[in-house]
Amino acid sequence: MERFVIDGRKPLSGEVKIGGSKNAALPILAATLLSESPSTIHNIPDLLDVNTMILVLQSLGVKIQKLGPGTYHIYPDSLNKSDAPYELIRKMRASFLVTGPLISRLRKAQVPLPGGCAIGSRPIDLHIKGFLHMGVQVSMSSGYVEAWADDLHGGEIYLDFPSVGATENIIMLASVVPGDTVIANAAREPEIINLAGFLTAMGARIEGAGTDTIIIHGVRRLNGCDYAIMNDRIEAGTFCVAAAITGGEVVVRGINPLVMRFVTTKLEEVGAKIENVGEDALFVSLKNRPRATDIKTMPYPGFPTDMQAQFMTLLCLTDGVSVVTETVFENRFAHVGELERMGINIKVEGRSAVVVGVEKLTGAQVTATDLRAGAALVMAGIAAEGRTEVYGISHVDRGYANLEEKLRILGASIVRVNE
Ligand code: EPZ
Repeated sequence: MERFVIDGRKPLSGEVKIGGSKNAALPILAATLLSESPSTIHNIPDLLDVNTMILVLQSLGVKIQKLGPGTYHIYPDSLNKSDAPYELIRKMRASFLVTGPLISRLRKAQVPLPGGCAIGSRPIDLHIKGFLHMGVQVSMSSGYVEAWADDLHGGEIYLDFPSVGATENIIMLASVVPGDTVIANAAREPEIINLAGFLTAMGARIEGAGTDTIIIHGVRRLNGCDYAIMNDRIEAGTFCVAAAITGGEVVVRGINPLVMRFVTTKLEEVGAKIENVGEDALFVSLKNRPRATDIKTMPYPGFPTDMQAQFMTLLCLTDGVSVVTETVFENRFAHVGELERMGINIKVEGRSAVVVGVEKLTGAQVTATDLRAGAALVMAGIAAEGRTEVYGISHVDRGYANLEEKLRILGASIVRVNE
């Protein structure tokens, strides 16, 4: 069985270069469908989820050429199918992001319901609400979303929750729909700004990306373009935690410190030393035992749910008691059960977990249940005394490129074993 074998308690040191953002790459790859002309996208990370999105686009008839590491040429003129395959959508919820572009190009889409996953039920009602407000007709039958549209028009959409995916699907469709569309209570994540940047480069007219109110003035057509996606702030945050949890000192390069405030503020609260290195790097160091602090996940600019599991692992080693509250997903504490094998002291009460700090973690055999839980188990392994074996690492490969290699360069003892 493939697994990471980690011998912990080695303080990390050196510099790590952050790669392209998974959560920017996936919507932008879907958005290439909005034009018939080709686009070239740079800085695409080498991840299982990216490969899945590429397979989805190819299954719809789109031709894709890899021009080099991280660079893809997309030819959407050959799009000839409006039904996305269940076996791919089932693997990755973000595949549902092709729905808006399919409706815009073909005036119809048949996309399987993405379904739930390890961290929650993952509904799509807000995506559908947005489509309905733009004149799309939607029906659900045998696990599929059937959408079709005769006359699309702009609309006013209030999102009950600032859903990242719903905001992205709506922006993509609204970009090429006659009239103006307003999204109120929109998601404000940096990945939304990156998607809006790509769409604007294609000729879209979008105001307010990154704020809670986004106005899209529909245009008749979009043109393919050349675009580089942003780097991955969650990968960066994970390496910041890796530096702190091993008592090391690391420069995390390729990230704007301003979008990292969510994690650097919390790291300073536990006693880490943080310095901005120019405009694209952070220096993180923690030499003493971390102090306790509380975290509560919120939509951006709050503390991101995608960092909750990794940061909780750091809080397991503090000199006090911390409370972790997960407000975004209903079931994102699966890592706690696995961390319990390593000597933590956590009590989960609904959406909150009370984390009582312990002196040390001890190595064990553990299994990842989802992407960020897997990252948390790797954090625990590099901090623990003795050997940890992390199974289920295909979850980790969905969102981290060469994680073990990057950690090894920083001094961690971690190898991928497959026997
Ligand atoms: C995106 O997922 C990210 N994925 C997730 O990252 C991230 O955790 C999440 O945003 C929140 O930041 C990608 O960008 C590919 P949401 P998404 O729609 O769009 C509810 C990772 O580890 N909701 O913002 O699916 C939903 O149930 C992944 O990289 C509705 O109720 O997240 C959840 O409670 C995991 N109705 C909340 O909103 C809807 O129609 C947040 O979901 C849609 C969502």
